Amino acid sequence: MKYSALKGIHDIFPPDSFIWQHVENTAKEIFSSYGFQELRAPIIESTEVFIRSIGESSDIVEKEMYTFNDKAGRRITLRPEGTAPVVRCYIENHLYNLPSPQKFFYSGPMFRYERPQAGRFRQFYQIGAEAFGISEPVIDAEILSLLKLFFERLGLKELNFQINSIGCDSCRPDFRKALLDFFSTKLEGLCPDCRRRYEINPLRILDCKVPDCIKLKEGAPVVIKYLCKECTEHFNSFQEYLKLLNIPFNINPNMVRGLDYYTRTTFEVTCEHLGAQNAVAAGGRYDKLVEEFGGPKTPAIGFAAGMERIISLLKDSGPIKIPAPKVFIASLDIESSKKALSIATDLREKGLWIELGYYGNSLKSQLRRADRISAEYVFIIGEDEIKSRKLKWKKLSDKTQGEIPFTEIDNFISGI
Ligand code: HAM
Repeated sequence: MKYSALKGIHDIFPPDSFIWQHVENTAKEIFSSYGFQELRAPIIESTEVFIRSIGESSDIVEKEMYTFNDKAGRRITLRPEGTAPVVRCYIENHLYNLPSPQKFFYSGPMFRYERPQAGRFRQFYQIGAEAFGISEPVIDAEILSLLKLFFERLGLKELNFQINSIGCDSCRPDFRKALLDFFSTKLEGLCPDCRRRYEINPLRILDCKVPDCIKLKEGAPVVIKYLCKECTEHFNSFQEYLKLLNIPFNINPNMVRGLDYYTRTTFEVTCEHLGAQNAVAAGGRYDKLVEEFGGPKTPAIGFAAGMERIISLLKDSGPIKIPAPKVFIASLDIESSKKALSIATDLREKGLWIELGYYGNSLKSQLRRADRISAEYVFIIGEDEIKSRKLKWKKLSDKTQGEIPFTEIDNFISGI
């Protein structure tokens, strides 16, 4: 019997896992410099947490959640995204009582039962951040500046920042009505999903990728024209901050996002090289969600970046330097392997990556392995070296070689 991973779900192993670590470490460094601190929420939650936040009419809740009953018959869902669990945690643990604002980042696997394709998986990893308690549009711009710095630090280029505002409770009803009027004569031509969206959440029609719907939405009302005074001011000053920060952006009035909790600012960072699934990060404001979840009135904004899409862009952008061992120590018999082990242990305590060869293998095959794993130096210890209390060293890149007394290993290492 041969087992394989489930459809749309992938293993991550070396050398790719080095790239993953590099991206995660870079994210943590940049996010920390913006004052975001780590929050680890569980991977499973009550199903209700996602229905109430992401919205009953969303594709995620309607079709994509991994939901099951636990042994006590509770409805449980594998998290399809990270915002709802963070909001649940923020309220449950009264984190709003701590000095405001509170800023968190998180990373880990998310689960959506989507049709797998390039860049779209059923288990995928996000690295995201959420800021609570800041209503000023300056945080909206700070979030985009954080994303810009993060992607620049990774060396990713040709990214587009798309922004929109989808208004608030006071202006969205007017926009909704305008959409209902506009699509009322076009219902027949819309896809079955959009006909349903028309009833529950007509904004979502603007997001549909079905060719007939794309055609039918030409000339549809534009949300920005329906924004109330406060939402317009917020959106305008968000843009002023972006200009101040030299962040190029496009306004995409059709970007309404697939989750119900958004208010005002929404944004996506896209890259054409990714093909159909071109969003590498996305997010927005959700000023009502904390209150709707039973917490105090708290403005909030956040984003999540898709790890697989970042990794795929990085791999396409050229060769990636994979870390390699500093020293490979080959040994030829039991006695020399004891010496090799103690040298390796000393050097590992100094934080160096040391690989051991094992004397059961010939010297030739040990050296072949050192070469294959791109060790920087090889040390060789055999009977003669034990007697003379010196080892042979070789630098694999330029083939230089020599000898060092066992007592001089530390000096040798600190000099290279
Ligand atoms: P989202 O747009 O659903 O937003 O996902 C954010 C990012 O996760 C996407 O831009 C994409 O890079 C990645 N992603 C989503 N689905 C998949 C998939 N099936 N396979 C691979 N990558 C995927 C959210 O999840 C919101 N929670 C973002 C947010 C945080 N809004 C406010 N705070």
